[in-house]
Amino acid sequence: MKTPTTPQWILSPSRSRPSTRRLGASVFALVIAGLGLGTSRAQVPPNWEVSTSFQYNIVDARLEVSGSTRSVTVVFAVTDPTHAQQAWNIKTDAPFTLAGARLSIDIGWNTRDLNNKGSTGENLDPVPFGRGTPAAPPISINALSAAAIPVPGGPVGLFQVTARLPSQVFGTARVAIEGHPMWPDASGAPAAVPVKSVFRDLAITDAQPVSRRKIVDIAKCQACHNGQWNDEIEEIIPRLTLHGANRTEEIGVCVVCHNPNQTDVAYRTSGIEVPVDFKTMIHAIHGNKRRDNPLVVVGFRGSVVDFGSVEFPANPRDCFRCHIEEKGRGTYELPLAPGVLGTTINTRSTVGVSIDVNPDNNLRISPTAAVCSSCHDSSKARQHMASSRSGGAFGVLQSQLDSLAVREKCVSCHGPGKEKSVRAVHR
Ligand code: HEC
Ligand code: HEC
Ligand code: HEC
Ligand code: HEC
Ligand code: HEC
Repeated sequence: MKTPTTPQWILSPSRSRPSTRRLGASVFALVIAGLGLGTSRAQVPPNWEVSTSFQYNIVDARLEVSGSTRSVTVVFAVTDPTHAQQAWNIKTDAPFTLAGARLSIDIGWNTRDLNNKGSTGENLDPVPFGRGTPAAPPISINALSAAAIPVPGGPVGLFQVTARLPSQVFGTARVAIEGHPMWPDASGAPAAVPVKSVFRDLAITDAQPVSRRKIVDIAKCQACHNGQWNDEIEEIIPRLTLHGANRTEEIGVCVVCHNPNQTDVAYRTSGIEVPVDFKTMIHAIHGNKRRDNPLVVVGFRGSVVDFGSVEFPANPRDCFRCHIEEKGRGTYELPLAPGVLGTTINTRSTVGVSIDVNPDNNLRISPTAAVCSSCHDSSKARQHMASSRSGGAFGVLQSQLDSLAVREKCVSCHGPGKEKSVRAVHR
């Protein structure tokens, strides 16, 4: 067995220094007081103050094959960049033992286009509603549970978890760390500390890891999402930490879940499920004013999240506000990369009863029409996209797209150099 590479930061001295000293002993007293008061965490804003004391590190990720069983072992550490990258001991240090702390190792696949097919195991039967299992989740391992063990013979602070892969996994998988320590904020109440999520790609059947295509740059998102007052909309635009400060400032981790097989069906008890695929959801949020109907998503534990009041302090036709340029071409231009999946609008779940986790029977919007209709959502625009001349569809199987039984022809009029090219019409 290959031994994990041990970077220098793990070897730095006195890593067992008590965490109370790192963050200040007086603060520790406040933790205890805060816990005593039983503060509701849901109302406490994320504690960015001490987030610079934490960094997630994927030290190694490796595939092990034994007969027909394939498993992935992830070696990881949480370090403190303000103290020469000394490792935190997630089993004993207060930020990880306080109530509410969460740390998860996620494994999703594959990087051609993330989809997590088969993620609930070999058995693709529907999952009973109420388990909180979305339609296309990654494998998720609680890194604060007994599932995480110290690396045998390794230095303090270095841990590992192992997970078995479903047989459907091929290509390159993506391993991620997300979650948050807890620490009291200025008021003394324990609050979730956002920590930048991280990922690493791991070859499963590819010879080398194949990285996912680059589309947007988080630095462009952060021009707005910086926690500062925005003069144009007269609001503070928060930094990007979502889902209770668990998933933070790394789009490469968002898309492990926000993939073309994912909808809001996990907590929905009525109505029609809504895709949360990033290539539609992010446009629908920011393109709110261009849309006829606002995006409404059923979020965690049934909360209704209505994006109808989003004021975007820019024109959404300015695609470069988020997108990057690669080889002289905007990543928002057509054609889409080969293999981009259609966006699921119907998982064939029975809303409020069971979740269908088999993506093969999902009804989808063909991928280009999915992107364009996330801002151009009028029935007139949809009719144009679904016309036989355009070739798009709103309710087809992925197999129909793969076999070209349904074939989008958008590029012939909206491709580069055409009069109605995506670049020209949004100039
Ligand atoms: C020109 C400014 C601007 C840019 C650039 C921008 N956003 Fe936003 N975004 C906003 C505003 C304003 C809102 C609505 C206020 C809010 O809830 O954050 C918002 C909301 C969101 C939300 C919903 C937040 C929530 O709490 O529900 C997400 C997610 C988001 N943006 C992600 C992104 C990502 C990812 C990028 C880059 C690819 C990006 N944004 C780029 C201005 C911007
Ligand atoms: C581990 C899976 C997972 C990760 C990682 C994840 N999400 Fe989500 N997210 C979901 C699911 C599933 C939903 C749909 C609602 C539901 O069923 O909980 C959702 C819903 C949302 C919503 C709409 C509803 C709401 O709760 O506000 C926004 C906005 C969002 N996610 C943004 C993000 C961003 C930005 C990231 C990355 C920083 C991210 N998510 C990472 C699983 C995830
Ligand atoms: C607020 C940020 C934002 C703006 C503005 C924006 N996009 Fe996007 N776009 C995204 C995000 C986020 C994704 C998905 C990124 C990912 O999956 O990694 C995306 C994905 C896409 C894709 C799919 C690319 C692929 O390879 O899968 C296309 C096409 C696209 N956008 C077109 C546009 C067009 C056209 C415009 C302007 C009219 C535009 N976008 C404006 C954030 C934005
Ligand atoms: C982020 C939102 C967004 C996305 C995604 C988007 N558009 Fe647009 N589009 C706009 C806005 C805003 C305009 C400016 C005119 C307006 O406000 O109606 C526009 C204008 C256009 C126009 C000019 C005609 C008109 O309706 O004004 C065409 C054609 C067009 N878009 C095609 C596309 C195609 C094709 C795609 C998918 C590849 C796409 N758009 C994706 C926001 C978007
Ligand atoms: C035969 C040429 C042709 C094809 C093929 C074609 N379009 Fe268009 N599309 C147009 C023209 C022309 C317009 C109107 C442009 C204008 O108003 O400036 C348009 C407008 C649009 C608009 C803006 C509609 C609105 O009312 O807001 C979208 C979005 C769009 N097309 C998407 C697509 C998509 C997605 C496909 C493929 C599934 C596609 N188109 C295929 C020619 C075409």
